[in-house]
Amino acid sequence: MARIAYNHTDAQAFAATRHLGDASSWRAAIVEHFDPKPGSRLLDLGAGTGSWSRTFTEWFPGVEVVAVEPSAAMRDLSVFQPILAGDAAAIPLPDSSVDAVWISTVIHHVPDLAAAAAELRRVLRPGAVVLIRSAFAGRPEGITQFRYFTEAVRVLDTYPSVADIEEAFAGFRTVKLSKVPQHTASSLQEIVATLRREAHTPLQLITDEEYATGLERLRAAAETTTGPVIDHLDLLVMRTDPAGSPPPAAG
Ligand SMILES: C[S@@+](CC[C@H](N)C(=O)[O-])C[C@H]1O[C@@H](n2cnc3c(N)ncnc32)[C@H](O)[C@@H]1O
Repeated sequence: MARIAYNHTDAQAFAATRHLGDASSWRAAIVEHFDPKPGSRLLDLGAGTGSWSRTFTEWFPGVEVVAVEPSAAMRDLSVFQPILAGDAAAIPLPDSSVDAVWISTVIHHVPDLAAAAAELRRVLRPGAVVLIRSAFAGRPEGITQFRYFTEAVRVLDTYPSVADIEEAFAGFRTVKLSKVPQHTASSLQEIVATLRREAHTPLQLITDEEYATGLERLRAAAETTTGPVIDHLDLLVMRTDPAGSPPPAAG
């Protein structure tokens, strides 16, 4: 079960405000690790309202993009179809059929990371890549939301850390951890005008008073700050072992 409901209200807020207008910086970060050869298969796990899947079909012609999402409300509003019902522990794909998996701002909702890792080991081909885009516990730096809603860092610190994920993902090796800059909005004023609390897990999980205080800080900053808002989310890249490697030792 996810940390928030992902009901119709959340899905509508997410679709309205969380699709990046300019995702281009992520393209280079992805192709550094994934060769988008025609015929390869890219899984968008926890695809939400489908914006990344739609972008991938534009960026990578010939790549088969498979979107999987557990929330019916998110699937109903998806800009990418088809989008399959499923979750990190039950992926509706055959064994050894996926070349890369994109897991964007999802990993903190996954209740059992080891079960997810086992399911990914099943569906991924040897040598396939796992691309986890997220904010991780202990790494709020470079994320605008946490600068103004400082109490939300308390929520972030309940998310999995990079070490938690590495421990759960036995049989995968970390290739790279980096902060990827992205153009989130043209200004803080735009964020003030469009912010929807329901679209952000950390903002749903602080108190109403904390949210109101954060909003005041954000509004005050927006009066004096100009220029685009650039956020830096983490990208954790892991790989399955190539064909022929022994399976991880038990225990
Ligand atoms: C913040 S949204 C991100 C959506 C999309 N990946 C994106 O970046 O636009 C988190 C998504 O994770 C999904 N989710 C929750 N629990 C999940 C699980 N156990 N396995 C896969 N996805 C899950 C939610 O339903 C929701 O659509």
